[in-house]
Amino acid sequence: MTDKLIIFDTTLRDGEQSPGASMTRDEKLRIARQLERLKVDVIEAGFAASSNGDFECVKAIAEAIKDSTVCSLARANDRDISRAAEALKPARSGRLHLFLATSALHMEMKLRMTPDQVFEQAKLSTRFARNLMADVEFSPEDGYRSDPDFLCRVIEAVIAEGATTINVPDTVGYAVPELYGNFLKNLRERIPNSDKAVWSVHCHNDLGMAVANSLAGVKIGGARQVECTINGLGERAGNCSLEEVVMALKTRRDYFHLDVGIDTKYILATSRMVSQTTGFVVQPNKAVVGANAFAHASGIHQDGVLKARDTYEIMRAEDVGWSANKIVLGKLSGRNAFKQRLQELGVVMQSEADINTAFARFKDLADRKSDIFDEDILALVSDESVTHEKEQYGFVSLSQHSETGERPQASVVFTVDGTEVKGNSDGNGPVDASLKAIETHVKSGAEMVLYSVNAISGSTESQGEVTVRLQNSGRVVNGVGADPDIVVASAKAYLSALNKLHSKADRVAAQG
Ligand code: KIV
Ligand code: ZN
Repeated sequence: MTDKLIIFDTTLRDGEQSPGASMTRDEKLRIARQLERLKVDVIEAGFAASSNGDFECVKAIAEAIKDSTVCSLARANDRDISRAAEALKPARSGRLHLFLATSALHMEMKLRMTPDQVFEQAKLSTRFARNLMADVEFSPEDGYRSDPDFLCRVIEAVIAEGATTINVPDTVGYAVPELYGNFLKNLRERIPNSDKAVWSVHCHNDLGMAVANSLAGVKIGGARQVECTINGLGERAGNCSLEEVVMALKTRRDYFHLDVGIDTKYILATSRMVSQTTGFVVQPNKAVVGANAFAHASGIHQDGVLKARDTYEIMRAEDVGWSANKIVLGKLSGRNAFKQRLQELGVVMQSEADINTAFARFKDLADRKSDIFDEDILALVSDESVTHEKEQYGFVSLSQHSETGERPQASVVFTVDGTEVKGNSDGNGPVDASLKAIETHVKSGAEMVLYSVNAISGSTESQGEVTVRLQNSGRVVNGVGADPDIVVASAKAYLSALNKLHSKADRVAAQG
């Protein structure tokens, strides 16, 4: 048994299944490059057969990534598998990830298949996949709620057909650590050819135990791959969080005795990139990457940490990227310092001209704000003028008037397919008036299901980062906007959400 643990990141596939977290091709590429920099072993880039857009994303990531294995999910049928293999063709190292439900509930109610049919399909699809690619992972969906005897039969058969990784998902987050660990251990002991595959855990967080269950799968069950996402992003309550599981393994190496290849100093920048791209704000008390994760408020704790940091700290903040973040740029910083910071943050610009555009925006921001933090830089490079993503709506300018006792008024100038329009409206507050002003032209009919404002770097001098979640005809999207003026940030976030609402093709969900 190897003592290296494989980190399989599924932020771009399972993470993207969170409401409104769908990302553009360029956003996914940027995150994939950051995951490579973080030294993730396997990047699940998407579900190639679910839409043409997802196919293109997997292909682009397969072309760009050299140091991590690139993986695509596929239902266990020939069409999905062929499509995934086609998208992965450019990859230096590619993996097909097949899934097929094995719990009685899923087989009967969702698939409407008998166990024998599922068994046959699992076998034949694995054989088909192995003829296309050497690296094949098989996931019995809802595996933890499946009958162990049936699961043993299926897993033994797919290993015999050449599956190289066996993943046991707790699809609905029902497991508890000891039981999940023993479930895996039992499967591995009972299946005669279990040693021919790497065993993997994939835990959802519905009961808040995804990280604990994954670690039990490793410690008790002998798994040597953990599937996880940045910030624990994912459907419902999310997935096992990469930063937590990695830091648990590193901090308690005395207990787990396993090596992980992750370069932890990029954890924080990756967390911020994912949060800003998807609009999923990280809660302040989130382990490892939350704003308070290393903050000591009580006098006793502060005193202890000043005398000897390990009195109250079990990890070093700088090991996960916190100190790097303290390097602040300002209005006197030059183009080289800016360019280097972009590289450290894993942001790859397409050309020198793009760096110049981003640098001009940085200078503009530095005129309005004395210290520019990493979060500010990440926010400004995701702006359309820098990414070149062709968007239907673009922010131009905004003016608003509000006074105690008066109904606020706003007028917003924005572009619709390159043509400038101006909308005017009143509203309950300046934000409400501004968004209504946009709607006088767009008439989207969308319902706002979430609006949140976050100070990017803590103080009132900071940029406001606004997330807007819109819902229309069953589709849910998040838009993010940043600006020192939170009304402007709100208008940008609203336009960004409208762009997503009007542009993305429908996708097939991996589960359900
Ligand atoms: O949770 C799950 O079962 C999955 C599979 C598709 C692996 O995400
Ligand atoms: Zn999942």
